[in-house]
Amino acid sequence: MLATLVQRDGRPAVRRPANPVVSCQGVTKDFGTGDTKTAALRGVELELYAGQLSLVVGPSGCGKTTLISIIAGLLDPTAGKVNVLGVELSQLGGRGLVEFRARNIGFVFQQYNLLPALSAAENAAVPLLITGWRRPKAVARAREMLAAVGLEHRPNAFPSQLSSGQQQRVAIARALINEPRLLVCDEPTAALDASAGHTVMELIHQVAVQPDRAVIVVTHDSRIYGFGDRIVQMSDGRVERIEEAGQQRSTILAGR
Ligand SMILES: Nc1ncnc2c1ncn2[C@@H]1O[C@H](COP(=O)(O)OP(=O)(O)OP(=O)(O)O)[C@@H](O)[C@H]1O
Ligand SMILES: [Mg+2]
Repeated sequence: MLATLVQRDGRPAVRRPANPVVSCQGVTKDFGTGDTKTAALRGVELELYAGQLSLVVGPSGCGKTTLISIIAGLLDPTAGKVNVLGVELSQLGGRGLVEFRARNIGFVFQQYNLLPALSAAENAAVPLLITGWRRPKAVARAREMLAAVGLEHRPNAFPSQLSSGQQQRVAIARALINEPRLLVCDEPTAALDASAGHTVMELIHQVAVQPDRAVIVVTHDSRIYGFGDRIVQMSDGRVERIEEAGQQRSTILAGR
């Protein structure tokens, strides 16, 4: 069953007519076997729509990173169906999945995951190189993306020469360079101070308001709750509740 979706006045929300960008049905994930088995996800039902920024919140260990890694095709579920942009991820083979991801999904990690031996522009160009772009053209496009995230003056800097906020902006440029329909971010502001975190969320939010794009952001950071159009509350491997923006967030985020 889908988690309760309610509107501000408590009535059930109207179903959206558009096809969801992401649909999860009965998604489970077990790590390990026997005595060491951990049930990280216990039957997740979730639909995400274009034009929205969904925040995924919940206590440490409730399965947030596991869920978005499965949605992004970085991890296989133990059971259940994950459909992204009308494609059942389990139907794609290894190479097919790599290409589907490179074309359609941008992923921003908490720790950026930049390649230390590559410059900012080369890092941002990586998804284009995977999809067959020639290097000079890919790096030129990457410079444009860096300018879009406010780093036009540092294309040749290596990650170690950039601040945390600048590295996260390179990671966002890399995630957006293929104009993905789905952007997935795991705690993108966790390592940033308030000002850098705000800049990064403004960037992510700009992306999300595009009508054909969906954005998921996992966060513990209460400073950024205001950026979400929906709040997906997870608990113990399940989606417990989904709230649309403008609702009594203080209630849900206080853990009710
Ligand atoms: N590779 C793994 N091997 C074994 N157990 C794992 C693995 N990854 C996650 N888990 C377990 O699965 C559960 C969910 O982990 P997950 O990382 O998804 O939580 P989370 O909600 O992202 O937590 P946090 O807020 O601390 O990042 C936890 O109990 C965790 O210990
Ligand atoms: Mg996590």
